[in-house]
Amino acid sequence: MTGVVLVFRDVTDQYREQAQRRQAERALRGSEAHLRSIFRAAPTGIGLVYNRVFEEVNERLCRMLGYQADELLGRNARMLYPSDAEYDWVGREKYRQIEQFGTGTVETRWRRKDGTEIEVLLSSTPLDPTDLSLGVTFTALDITDRIQALEELKRLRSLLTSIIDSMPSVLVAVDRDGRVTAWNRGAAESSGVPVEQASGRTLPEVFPQLDAELERVRAALASGSIQQARTIIEGTDGPVRLTDITVYPLAENGVAGAVIRLDDVTERVRMEERMIQSEKMLSVGGLAAGMAHEVNNPLAAILQNVQNALRRTTEDLPANRQAAEAAGISLEAIQDYLERRGVPRMLRGVLESGRRAAELVENMLSFSRKSPGALSTCDLAELLEKTVALAASDYDPSKQYDFRHIRIVRDYAADCPPVPCERSKIQQVFLNVLKNGAEAMMAREQSEREPAFVLRTRCDGPWVRVDIEDNGPGMPEEVRRRVFEPFFTTREVGSGTGLGLSISYFIVTQQHGGSMTVDSTVGKGTVFSILLPLAGRGIP
Ligand SMILES: Nc1ncnc2c1ncn2[C@@H]1O[C@H](COP(=O)(O)OP(=O)(O)OP(=O)(O)O)[C@@H](O)[C@H]1O
Ligand SMILES: [Mg+2]
Repeated sequence: MTGVVLVFRDVTDQYREQAQRRQAERALRGSEAHLRSIFRAAPTGIGLVYNRVFEEVNERLCRMLGYQADELLGRNARMLYPSDAEYDWVGREKYRQIEQFGTGTVETRWRRKDGTEIEVLLSSTPLDPTDLSLGVTFTALDITDRIQALEELKRLRSLLTSIIDSMPSVLVAVDRDGRVTAWNRGAAESSGVPVEQASGRTLPEVFPQLDAELERVRAALASGSIQQARTIIEGTDGPVRLTDITVYPLAENGVAGAVIRLDDVTERVRMEERMIQSEKMLSVGGLAAGMAHEVNNPLAAILQNVQNALRRTTEDLPANRQAAEAAGISLEAIQDYLERRGVPRMLRGVLESGRRAAELVENMLSFSRKSPGALSTCDLAELLEKTVALAASDYDPSKQYDFRHIRIVRDYAADCPPVPCERSKIQQVFLNVLKNGAEAMMAREQSEREPAFVLRTRCDGPWVRVDIEDNGPGMPEEVRRRVFEPFFTTREVGSGTGLGLSISYFIVTQQHGGSMTVDSTVGKGTVFSILLPLAGRGIP
Protein backbone atom coordinates (compact mmCIF):
# COMPACT_ATOMS: atom_id res chain seq x y z
CA MET A 1 0.00 0.00 0.00
CA THR A 2 1.25 3.20 -0.83
CA GLY A 3 0.55 5.94 1.43
CA VAL A 4 0.39 9.55 1.09
CA VAL A 5 2.27 11.85 3.20
CA LEU A 6 0.68 15.10 3.48
CA VAL A 7 2.82 17.93 4.64
CA PHE A 8 1.04 20.96 5.83
CA ARG A 9 3.02 24.11 6.21
CA ASP A 10 1.87 27.45 7.28
CA VAL A 11 2.79 29.72 4.31
CA THR A 12 1.13 32.83 5.49
CA ASP A 13 4.48 34.38 6.50
CA GLN A 14 6.07 33.40 3.22
CA TYR A 15 3.36 35.13 1.27
CA ARG A 16 3.68 38.20 3.36
CA GLU A 17 7.45 38.31 2.85
CA GLN A 18 7.10 37.92 -0.89
CA ALA A 19 4.58 40.69 -1.04
CA GLN A 20 6.82 42.96 0.96
CA ARG A 21 9.79 42.15 -1.24
CA ARG A 22 7.83 42.85 -4.37
CA GLN A 23 6.68 46.09 -2.95
CA ALA A 24 10.21 47.11 -1.96
CA GLU A 25 11.44 46.18 -5.42
CA ARG A 26 8.71 48.23 -6.96
CA ALA A 27 9.57 51.16 -4.71
CA LEU A 28 13.24 50.81 -5.56
CA ARG A 29 12.50 50.60 -9.26
CA GLY A 30 10.27 53.63 -8.87
CA SER A 31 12.86 55.73 -7.11
CA GLU A 32 15.55 54.55 -9.49
CA ALA A 33 13.38 55.60 -12.43
CA HIS A 34 12.82 58.83 -10.64
CA LEU A 35 16.56 59.41 -10.24
CA ARG A 36 17.20 58.37 -13.84
CA SER A 37 14.69 60.87 -15.09
CA ILE A 38 16.30 63.63 -13.02
CA PHE A 39 19.68 62.43 -14.25
CA ARG A 40 18.44 62.70 -17.82
CA ALA A 41 16.41 65.83 -17.62
CA ALA A 42 18.64 68.00 -15.42
CA PRO A 43 19.86 71.09 -17.28
CA THR A 44 23.37 70.40 -15.98
CA GLY A 45 25.91 67.78 -16.84
CA ILE A 46 25.88 65.02 -14.21
CA GLY A 47 28.15 62.01 -13.86
CA LEU A 48 29.71 59.49 -11.55
CA VAL A 49 33.44 58.75 -11.37
CA TYR A 50 35.53 56.16 -9.63
CA ASN A 51 39.11 57.37 -9.25
CA ARG A 52 38.36 60.04 -11.82
CA VAL A 53 37.25 57.45 -14.36
CA PHE A 54 33.76 57.98 -15.84
CA GLU A 55 31.28 55.42 -14.65
CA GLU A 56 28.11 57.19 -15.59
CA VAL A 57 27.39 60.35 -17.62
CA ASN A 58 24.11 61.97 -18.47
CA GLU A 59 22.86 63.10 -21.82
CA ARG A 60 23.39 66.74 -21.01
CA LEU A 61 27.07 66.23 -20.19
CA CYS A 62 27.57 64.39 -23.47
CA ARG A 63 25.91 67.17 -25.41
CA MET A 64 27.98 69.76 -23.57
CA LEU A 65 31.19 67.98 -24.53
CA GLY A 66 30.21 66.71 -27.97
CA TYR A 67 31.04 63.09 -27.05
CA GLN A 68 28.85 59.98 -27.14
CA ALA A 69 28.39 58.37 -23.73
CA ASP A 70 30.43 55.31 -24.72
CA GLU A 71 33.32 57.53 -25.74
CA LEU A 72 33.51 58.76 -22.16
CA LEU A 73 32.57 55.76 -20.05
CA GLY A 74 35.54 53.85 -18.71
CA ARG A 75 37.94 56.65 -19.56
CA ASN A 76 39.86 58.98 -17.29
CA ALA A 77 38.62 62.53 -16.96
CA ARG A 78 42.15 63.62 -17.98
CA MET A 79 40.90 63.46 -21.59
CA LEU A 80 38.83 66.61 -20.99
CA TYR A 81 41.56 68.84 -19.56
CA PRO A 82 43.71 71.05 -21.76
CA SER A 83 46.84 70.25 -19.69
CA ASP A 84 48.21 67.97 -17.00
CA ALA A 85 48.73 70.94 -14.79
CA GLU A 86 45.04 71.88 -14.93
CA TYR A 87 43.98 68.24 -14.37
CA ASP A 88 46.25 67.94 -11.35
CA TRP A 89 45.22 71.26 -9.90
CA VAL A 90 41.50 70.44 -10.15
CA GLY A 91 42.10 67.03 -8.49
CA ARG A 92 44.07 68.52 -5.65
CA GLU A 93 41.79 71.47 -5.05
CA LYS A 94 38.57 69.47 -5.24
CA TYR A 95 39.70 66.69 -2.91
CA ARG A 96 41.06 69.26 -0.50
CA GLN A 97 37.62 70.90 -0.33
CA ILE A 98 35.86 67.53 -0.06
CA GLU A 99 38.06 66.63 2.85
CA GLN A 100 37.25 69.91 4.51
CA PHE A 101 33.59 70.49 3.61
CA GLY A 102 32.38 67.17 2.24
CA THR A 103 31.95 68.69 -1.19
CA GLY A 104 34.15 70.63 -3.61
CA THR A 105 33.55 73.27 -6.31
CA VAL A 106 36.07 74.64 -8.78
CA GLU A 107 36.04 76.61 -12.02
CA THR A 108 38.09 75.00 -14.75
CA ARG A 109 38.37 74.60 -18.51
CA TRP A 110 37.41 71.52 -20.46
CA ARG A 111 38.13 70.71 -24.04
CA ARG A 112 35.23 69.49 -26.15
CA LYS A 113 35.57 66.76 -28.75
CA ASP A 114 35.78 69.36 -31.52
CA GLY A 115 38.74 71.00 -29.75
CA THR A 116 36.95 74.13 -28.53
CA GLU A 117 37.36 74.93 -24.86
CA ILE A 118 34.60 75.78 -22.43
CA GLU A 119 34.55 77.21 -18.94
CA VAL A 120 33.04 74.78 -16.46
CA LEU A 121 31.79 75.11 -12.91
CA LEU A 122 32.48 71.66 -11.45
CA SER A 123 30.97 70.48 -8.15
CA SER A 124 31.73 67.05 -6.74
CA THR A 125 30.34 65.12 -3.80
CA PRO A 126 31.51 61.59 -2.83
CA LEU A 127 28.85 58.93 -2.24
CA ASP A 128 30.62 58.21 1.01
CA PRO A 129 32.85 60.98 2.27
CA THR A 130 34.99 58.52 4.19
CA ASP A 131 35.61 56.28 1.19
CA LEU A 132 36.24 58.04 -2.10
CA SER A 133 36.71 54.75 -3.90
CA LEU A 134 32.97 54.24 -3.67
CA GLY A 135 32.63 56.92 -6.27
CA VAL A 136 32.09 60.61 -6.58
CA THR A 137 29.13 62.25 -8.29
CA PHE A 138 29.68 65.53 -10.00
CA THR A 139 27.72 68.25 -11.78
CA ALA A 140 29.25 70.33 -14.53
CA LEU A 141 27.80 73.66 -15.61
CA ASP A 142 28.92 75.37 -18.82
CA ILE A 143 29.62 78.94 -17.68
CA THR A 144 31.47 80.09 -20.79
CA ASP A 145 28.79 82.66 -21.61
CA ARG A 146 28.71 83.96 -18.09
CA ILE A 147 32.49 84.36 -17.94
CA GLN A 148 32.50 86.01 -21.34
CA ALA A 149 29.74 88.34 -20.24
CA LEU A 150 31.74 89.21 -17.12
CA GLU A 151 34.84 89.84 -19.16
CA GLU A 152 32.85 91.95 -21.59
CA LEU A 153 31.48 93.88 -18.65
CA LYS A 154 34.99 94.45 -17.30
CA ARG A 155 36.17 95.52 -20.73
CA LEU A 156 33.25 97.90 -21.13
CA ARG A 157 33.85 99.34 -17.70
CA SER A 158 37.49 100.03 -18.44
CA LEU A 159 36.56 101.42 -21.85
CA LEU A 160 34.08 103.73 -20.18
CA THR A 161 36.68 104.84 -17.66
CA SER A 162 39.22 105.57 -20.35
CA ILE A 163 36.65 107.42 -22.43
CA ILE A 164 35.53 109.65 -19.60
CA ASP A 165 39.14 110.13 -18.53
CA SER A 166 40.18 111.19 -21.98
CA MET A 167 37.59 113.98 -22.05
CA PRO A 168 38.91 117.43 -21.33
CA SER A 169 35.77 118.20 -19.32
CA VAL A 170 35.25 117.57 -15.65
CA LEU A 171 32.72 114.73 -15.42
CA VAL A 172 31.13 113.77 -12.13
CA ALA A 173 28.23 111.39 -11.65
CA VAL A 174 26.22 111.55 -8.44
CA ASP A 175 23.34 109.58 -7.03
CA ARG A 176 20.10 111.05 -5.71
CA ASP A 177 21.77 111.98 -2.41
CA GLY A 178 24.55 113.81 -4.17
CA ARG A 179 27.10 111.05 -3.51
CA VAL A 180 29.79 110.59 -6.13
CA THR A 181 29.47 107.49 -8.30
CA ALA A 182 31.87 108.44 -11.10
CA TRP A 183 34.80 110.82 -11.12
CA ASN A 184 36.97 111.33 -14.17
CA ARG A 185 40.57 112.45 -14.40
CA GLY A 186 39.49 116.03 -15.11
CA ALA A 187 37.52 116.04 -11.86
CA ALA A 188 40.49 114.65 -9.94
CA GLU A 189 42.82 117.26 -11.40
CA SER A 190 40.46 120.13 -10.94
CA SER A 191 39.50 119.28 -7.35
CA GLY A 192 42.79 117.73 -6.25
CA VAL A 193 40.87 114.71 -4.94
CA PRO A 194 41.80 111.32 -6.47
CA VAL A 195 39.01 109.02 -7.62
CA GLU A 196 39.53 106.49 -4.80
CA GLN A 197 38.83 109.20 -2.25
CA ALA A 198 35.92 110.75 -4.08
CA SER A 199 33.69 107.71 -4.57
CA GLY A 200 30.76 107.60 -2.23
CA ARG A 201 31.38 111.00 -0.69
CA THR A 202 29.08 113.96 -1.10
CA LEU A 203 29.75 116.62 -3.67
CA PRO A 204 30.28 119.51 -1.24
CA GLU A 205 32.89 117.44 0.59
CA VAL A 206 35.02 116.73 -2.44
CA PHE A 207 34.20 119.65 -4.75
CA PRO A 208 33.14 122.58 -2.56
CA GLN A 209 33.03 124.93 -5.58
CA LEU A 210 30.10 122.87 -6.83
CA ASP A 211 28.13 123.25 -3.65
CA ALA A 212 25.75 125.65 -5.34
CA GLU A 213 25.18 123.20 -8.17
CA LEU A 214 23.34 120.69 -6.00
CA GLU A 215 20.22 122.75 -6.52
CA ARG A 216 20.63 122.28 -10.26
CA VAL A 217 21.11 118.54 -9.78
CA ARG A 218 17.85 118.39 -7.87
CA ALA A 219 16.10 120.43 -10.52
CA ALA A 220 17.40 118.07 -13.22
CA LEU A 221 16.20 115.04 -11.26
CA ALA A 222 12.83 116.56 -10.53
CA SER A 223 12.14 117.74 -14.06
CA GLY A 224 14.06 115.04 -15.92
CA SER A 225 15.47 117.73 -18.17
CA ILE A 226 18.99 118.91 -18.85
CA GLN A 227 20.07 121.96 -16.87
CA GLN A 228 22.64 124.37 -18.21
CA ALA A 229 24.33 127.46 -16.86
CA ARG A 230 27.46 129.52 -17.14
CA THR A 231 29.19 130.43 -13.93
CA ILE A 232 32.43 131.81 -12.70
CA ILE A 233 34.52 129.36 -10.74
CA GLU A 234 37.38 130.81 -8.84
CA GLY A 235 40.40 128.56 -8.59
CA THR A 236 42.23 128.40 -5.27
CA ASP A 237 45.06 130.56 -6.54
CA GLY A 238 44.56 130.82 -10.29
CA PRO A 239 42.60 133.48 -12.11
CA VAL A 240 38.85 133.53 -12.54
CA ARG A 241 37.64 130.89 -14.99
CA LEU A 242 34.38 130.96 -16.88
CA THR A 243 32.78 127.56 -16.69
CA ASP A 244 29.81 126.02 -18.46
CA ILE A 245 27.89 123.61 -16.27
CA THR A 246 25.56 121.01 -17.69
CA VAL A 247 23.59 118.62 -15.52
CA TYR A 248 22.15 115.55 -17.24
CA PRO A 249 19.58 113.60 -15.25
CA LEU A 250 20.07 109.82 -15.17
CA ALA A 251 17.32 107.33 -14.55
CA GLU A 252 18.04 103.63 -14.56
CA ASN A 253 16.20 100.88 -12.68
CA GLY A 254 14.44 103.56 -10.74
CA VAL A 255 17.73 104.64 -9.10
CA ALA A 256 18.13 108.21 -10.22
CA GLY A 257 21.24 110.31 -10.31
CA ALA A 258 22.88 112.89 -12.49
CA VAL A 259 26.01 113.55 -14.47
CA ILE A 260 27.57 116.96 -14.07
CA ARG A 261 29.83 118.24 -16.79
CA LEU A 262 32.06 121.27 -16.38
CA ASP A 263 33.80 122.90 -19.31
CA ASP A 264 36.31 125.66 -19.00
CA VAL A 265 35.18 128.09 -21.68
CA THR A 266 37.33 131.04 -20.63
CA GLU A 267 39.46 130.95 -23.75
CA ARG A 268 36.51 130.48 -26.07
CA VAL A 269 34.52 133.30 -24.52
CA ARG A 270 37.53 135.62 -24.64
CA MET A 271 38.03 134.70 -28.28
CA GLU A 272 34.40 135.42 -29.12
CA GLU A 273 34.60 138.68 -27.24
CA ARG A 274 37.67 139.62 -29.20
CA MET A 275 35.92 138.92 -32.47
CA ILE A 276 32.84 140.88 -31.51
CA GLN A 277 35.14 143.57 -30.22
CA SER A 278 37.04 143.95 -33.46
CA GLU A 279 33.82 143.93 -35.50
CA LYS A 280 32.35 146.61 -33.31
CA MET A 281 35.56 148.60 -33.31
CA LEU A 282 35.71 148.54 -37.07
CA SER A 283 32.17 149.83 -37.46
CA VAL A 284 32.32 152.40 -34.67
CA GLY A 285 35.83 153.39 -35.72
CA GLY A 286 34.71 153.76 -39.31
CA LEU A 287 31.79 155.90 -38.22
CA ALA A 288 33.98 158.12 -36.08
CA ALA A 289 36.49 158.52 -38.87
CA GLY A 290 33.73 159.36 -41.35
CA MET A 291 32.34 161.99 -39.01
CA ALA A 292 35.80 163.38 -38.43
CA HIS A 293 36.19 163.91 -42.16
CA GLU A 294 32.88 165.78 -42.29
CA VAL A 295 33.72 167.93 -39.28
CA ASN A 296 37.21 168.65 -40.53
CA ASN A 297 36.30 171.12 -43.30
CA PRO A 298 33.97 173.44 -41.35
CA LEU A 299 36.38 173.24 -38.44
CA ALA A 300 39.28 174.31 -40.65
CA ALA A 301 37.17 177.26 -41.84
CA ILE A 302 36.34 178.25 -38.24
CA LEU A 303 39.97 178.08 -37.16
CA GLN A 304 41.25 179.98 -40.11
CA ASN A 305 38.65 182.74 -39.82
CA VAL A 306 39.12 183.13 -36.07
CA GLN A 307 42.87 183.43 -36.57
CA ASN A 308 42.29 186.08 -39.22
CA ALA A 309 39.81 187.99 -37.07
CA LEU A 310 42.34 188.06 -34.22
CA ARG A 311 45.14 189.16 -36.51
CA ARG A 312 43.02 191.91 -38.05
CA THR A 313 41.84 193.38 -34.75
CA THR A 314 44.71 192.92 -32.29
CA GLU A 315 47.86 193.17 -34.37
CA ASP A 316 49.56 196.31 -35.54
CA LEU A 317 49.68 195.52 -39.24
CA PRO A 318 49.90 198.16 -42.05
CA ALA A 319 46.76 196.78 -43.67
CA ASN A 320 44.86 197.17 -40.34
CA ARG A 321 45.99 200.79 -40.01
CA GLN A 322 45.03 201.66 -43.56
CA ALA A 323 41.56 200.24 -43.16
CA ALA A 324 41.05 202.10 -39.83
CA GLU A 325 42.16 205.40 -41.32
CA ALA A 326 39.86 204.95 -44.32
CA ALA A 327 37.00 204.41 -41.88
CA GLY A 328 37.98 207.59 -39.98
CA ILE A 329 38.90 205.92 -36.75
CA SER A 330 42.23 205.08 -35.12
CA LEU A 331 43.41 201.48 -34.74
CA GLU A 332 44.11 202.18 -31.05
CA ALA A 333 40.50 203.31 -30.51
CA ILE A 334 39.23 200.11 -32.14
CA GLN A 335 41.57 197.96 -30.01
CA ASP A 336 40.56 199.88 -26.89
CA TYR A 337 36.87 199.29 -27.60
CA LEU A 338 37.40 195.57 -28.30
CA GLU A 339 39.51 195.06 -25.14
CA ARG A 340 36.83 196.80 -23.08
CA ARG A 341 34.23 194.43 -24.47
CA GLY A 342 36.48 191.36 -24.03
CA VAL A 343 36.33 190.45 -27.72
CA PRO A 344 39.96 189.27 -28.18
CA ARG A 345 39.59 186.96 -25.15
CA MET A 346 36.48 185.47 -26.70
CA LEU A 347 38.20 184.99 -30.02
CA ARG A 348 41.16 183.29 -28.28
CA GLY A 349 38.64 181.06 -26.52
CA VAL A 350 37.14 180.07 -29.88
CA LEU A 351 40.63 179.39 -31.23
CA GLU A 352 41.59 177.28 -28.21
CA SER A 353 38.40 175.21 -28.34
CA GLY A 354 38.73 174.84 -32.08
CA ARG A 355 42.26 173.49 -31.66
CA ARG A 356 41.08 170.96 -29.08
CA ALA A 357 38.37 169.86 -31.44
CA ALA A 358 40.92 169.59 -34.25
CA GLU A 359 43.11 167.38 -32.07
CA LEU A 360 40.15 165.14 -31.35
CA VAL A 361 39.29 164.98 -35.01
CA GLU A 362 42.90 164.14 -35.80
CA ASN A 363 42.69 161.28 -33.28
CA MET A 364 39.43 160.07 -34.76
CA LEU A 365 40.94 160.10 -38.22
CA SER A 366 43.59 157.66 -37.07
CA PHE A 367 40.82 155.01 -36.89
CA SER A 368 40.69 154.91 -40.64
CA ARG A 369 44.40 154.86 -41.28
CA LYS A 370 45.33 151.37 -42.24
CA SER A 371 49.08 151.53 -42.31
CA PRO A 372 51.63 153.20 -40.13
CA GLY A 373 54.12 155.74 -41.38
CA ALA A 374 57.80 155.02 -41.25
CA LEU A 375 58.57 151.58 -39.91
CA SER A 376 61.72 151.08 -37.96
CA THR A 377 62.76 148.17 -35.80
CA CYS A 378 62.79 148.87 -32.13
CA ASP A 379 63.48 147.10 -28.93
CA LEU A 380 60.18 147.18 -27.05
CA ALA A 381 61.74 147.01 -23.58
CA GLU A 382 63.87 150.00 -24.38
CA LEU A 383 60.89 151.88 -25.82
CA LEU A 384 58.92 151.07 -22.68
CA GLU A 385 61.73 152.50 -20.54
CA LYS A 386 61.80 155.70 -22.57
CA THR A 387 58.04 156.03 -22.21
CA VAL A 388 58.21 155.58 -18.44
CA ALA A 389 60.86 158.28 -18.25
CA LEU A 390 58.69 160.55 -20.41
CA ALA A 391 55.64 159.97 -18.25
CA ALA A 392 57.63 160.69 -15.09
CA SER A 393 59.10 163.95 -16.42
CA ASP A 394 55.72 165.10 -17.69
CA TYR A 395 54.45 165.81 -14.20
CA ASP A 396 51.43 168.04 -14.15
CA PRO A 397 49.95 168.96 -10.77
CA SER A 398 46.49 169.21 -12.30
CA LYS A 399 46.62 165.50 -13.01
CA GLN A 400 45.51 162.98 -10.49
CA TYR A 401 48.71 160.99 -10.44
CA ASP A 402 52.41 161.36 -9.98
CA PHE A 403 54.46 158.80 -11.77
CA ARG A 404 57.39 159.22 -9.44
CA HIS A 405 55.43 157.64 -6.60
CA ILE A 406 54.75 154.44 -8.47
CA ARG A 407 57.05 151.49 -7.95
CA ILE A 408 58.05 149.85 -11.22
CA VAL A 409 58.96 146.18 -11.42
CA ARG A 410 60.76 145.23 -14.62
CA ASP A 411 60.60 141.74 -16.03
CA TYR A 412 62.12 141.90 -19.48
CA ALA A 413 62.95 138.80 -21.50
CA ALA A 414 66.63 138.85 -22.41
CA ASP A 415 66.25 137.25 -25.80
CA CYS A 416 63.54 139.38 -27.46
CA PRO A 417 64.57 140.57 -30.92
CA PRO A 418 63.59 144.08 -32.04
CA VAL A 419 60.16 144.46 -33.66
CA PRO A 420 59.32 146.39 -36.83
CA CYS A 421 56.95 149.19 -35.86
CA GLU A 422 56.30 152.90 -35.99
CA ARG A 423 58.10 154.00 -32.90
CA SER A 424 56.13 157.11 -32.01
CA LYS A 425 52.80 155.31 -32.44
CA ILE A 426 53.75 152.42 -30.19
CA GLN A 427 55.11 154.88 -27.68
CA GLN A 428 51.72 156.60 -27.73
CA VAL A 429 50.08 153.23 -26.97
CA PHE A 430 52.39 152.59 -24.02
CA LEU A 431 51.81 156.10 -22.72
CA ASN A 432 48.00 155.76 -22.91
CA VAL A 433 48.08 152.48 -21.02
CA LEU A 434 50.56 153.72 -18.40
CA LYS A 435 48.53 156.89 -17.83
CA ASN A 436 45.31 154.95 -17.38
CA GLY A 437 47.02 152.58 -14.94
CA ALA A 438 48.51 155.44 -12.96
CA GLU A 439 45.15 157.21 -12.79
CA ALA A 440 43.42 154.01 -11.72
CA MET A 441 45.94 153.24 -8.97
CA MET A 442 45.73 156.77 -7.60
CA ALA A 443 41.98 156.95 -7.73
CA ARG A 444 41.75 153.90 -5.52
CA GLU A 445 41.06 154.23 -1.81
CA GLN A 446 44.20 155.87 -0.60
CA SER A 447 46.69 153.20 -0.56
CA GLU A 448 46.28 150.09 1.40
CA ARG A 449 48.75 148.89 -1.23
CA GLU A 450 51.77 150.62 -2.68
CA PRO A 451 50.92 151.41 -6.31
CA ALA A 452 53.10 149.36 -8.62
CA PHE A 453 53.44 148.53 -12.29
CA VAL A 454 54.89 145.28 -13.56
CA LEU A 455 56.34 145.74 -17.05
CA ARG A 456 56.94 142.46 -18.81
CA THR A 457 58.22 141.51 -22.26
CA ARG A 458 58.11 138.00 -23.68
CA CYS A 459 58.89 136.29 -26.96
CA ASP A 460 55.83 134.34 -27.88
CA GLY A 461 56.47 132.41 -31.11
CA PRO A 462 56.21 134.88 -33.98
CA TRP A 463 55.11 137.61 -31.54
CA VAL A 464 56.65 139.84 -28.95
CA ARG A 465 54.30 140.43 -26.06
CA VAL A 466 54.36 143.41 -23.74
CA ASP A 467 52.32 143.23 -20.54
CA ILE A 468 51.61 146.32 -18.52
CA GLU A 469 50.18 145.24 -15.21
CA ASP A 470 48.93 147.51 -12.43
CA ASN A 471 47.69 146.69 -8.96
CA GLY A 472 44.85 149.21 -9.12
CA PRO A 473 41.17 148.61 -8.39
CA GLY A 474 40.58 146.53 -11.53
CA MET A 475 37.40 146.72 -13.57
CA PRO A 476 34.08 144.97 -13.39
CA GLU A 477 33.20 142.78 -16.36
CA GLU A 478 30.88 145.41 -17.99
CA VAL A 479 33.67 147.97 -18.03
CA ARG A 480 36.38 145.53 -19.10
CA ARG A 481 34.34 144.50 -22.10
CA ARG A 482 33.98 148.07 -23.32
CA VAL A 483 37.32 149.75 -22.62
CA PHE A 484 38.46 149.70 -26.24
CA GLU A 485 35.29 151.35 -27.51
CA PRO A 486 35.78 154.88 -28.80
CA PHE A 487 34.37 157.45 -26.37
CA PHE A 488 33.89 154.92 -23.61
CA THR A 489 35.05 156.47 -20.38
CA THR A 490 34.19 156.24 -16.71
CA ARG A 491 35.77 159.59 -15.98
CA GLU A 492 33.79 162.69 -15.19
CA VAL A 493 32.52 164.69 -18.13
CA GLY A 494 35.35 166.84 -19.44
CA SER A 495 38.21 164.95 -17.84
CA GLY A 496 38.53 162.08 -20.32
CA THR A 497 37.53 161.64 -23.93
CA GLY A 498 37.48 157.86 -23.82
CA LEU A 499 39.68 157.77 -26.88
CA GLY A 500 42.99 156.72 -25.30
CA LEU A 501 42.50 152.97 -25.47
CA SER A 502 40.50 152.91 -28.68
CA ILE A 503 43.25 154.77 -30.50
CA SER A 504 45.81 152.41 -28.96
CA TYR A 505 43.75 149.46 -30.09
CA PHE A 506 43.64 150.75 -33.64
CA ILE A 507 47.33 151.48 -33.71
CA VAL A 508 48.17 147.97 -32.54
CA THR A 509 45.61 145.93 -34.49
CA GLN A 510 45.01 147.90 -37.67
CA GLN A 511 48.29 149.61 -38.21
CA HIS A 512 50.65 146.94 -36.91
CA GLY A 513 48.73 143.69 -37.41
CA GLY A 514 49.09 142.95 -33.71
CA SER A 515 46.59 142.29 -30.95
CA MET A 516 45.68 144.04 -27.74
CA THR A 517 43.80 142.44 -24.87
CA VAL A 518 42.95 143.16 -21.28
CA ASP A 519 42.49 141.00 -18.20
CA SER A 520 41.24 142.44 -14.99
CA THR A 521 40.21 141.29 -11.53
CA VAL A 522 38.27 143.65 -9.31
CA GLY A 523 40.32 144.45 -6.23
CA LYS A 524 43.52 143.02 -7.68
CA GLY A 525 44.48 144.91 -10.79
CA THR A 526 44.58 145.01 -14.55
CA VAL A 527 46.91 143.68 -17.24
CA PHE A 528 47.00 145.07 -20.74
CA SER A 529 48.78 142.80 -23.22
CA ILE A 530 50.09 144.10 -26.50
CA LEU A 531 51.31 141.60 -29.09
CA LEU A 532 53.27 142.74 -32.08
CA PRO A 533 54.30 140.46 -34.94
CA LEU A 534 58.04 139.96 -35.42
CA ALA A 535 57.56 139.66 -39.15
CA GLY A 536 55.97 143.08 -39.31
CA ARG A 537 52.48 143.97 -40.44
CA GLY A 538 50.32 141.46 -42.21
CA ILE A 539 50.87 138.47 -39.98
CA PRO A 540 47.43 137.32 -38.88
N1 LIG B 1 44.36 150.28 -15.75
C1 LIG B 1 43.05 150.52 -15.62
N2 LIG B 1 42.41 150.22 -14.46
C2 LIG B 1 41.09 150.46 -14.32
N3 LIG B 1 40.31 150.99 -15.29
C3 LIG B 1 40.88 151.33 -16.46
C4 LIG B 1 42.27 151.10 -16.70
N4 LIG B 1 42.55 151.49 -17.95
C5 LIG B 1 41.39 151.94 -18.49
N5 LIG B 1 40.40 151.87 -17.59
C6 LIG B 1 38.99 152.24 -17.83
O1 LIG B 1 38.79 152.32 -19.22
C7 LIG B 1 38.17 153.53 -19.56
C8 LIG B 1 38.60 153.93 -20.97
O2 LIG B 1 39.97 154.27 -21.02
P1 LIG B 1 40.49 155.23 -22.15
O3 LIG B 1 41.94 155.42 -21.98
O4 LIG B 1 40.04 154.72 -23.46
O5 LIG B 1 39.72 156.54 -21.88
P2 LIG B 1 39.94 157.58 -20.70
O6 LIG B 1 41.22 157.29 -20.00
O7 LIG B 1 38.69 157.54 -19.87
O8 LIG B 1 40.02 158.92 -21.46
P3 LIG B 1 41.29 159.48 -22.29
O9 LIG B 1 42.31 158.41 -22.28
O10 LIG B 1 40.77 159.74 -23.62
O11 LIG B 1 41.69 160.66 -21.55
C9 LIG B 1 38.60 154.47 -18.48
O12 LIG B 1 37.68 155.50 -18.32
C10 LIG B 1 38.64 153.56 -17.26
O13 LIG B 1 37.34 153.42 -16.71
MG1 LIG C 1 43.03 157.05 -21.02
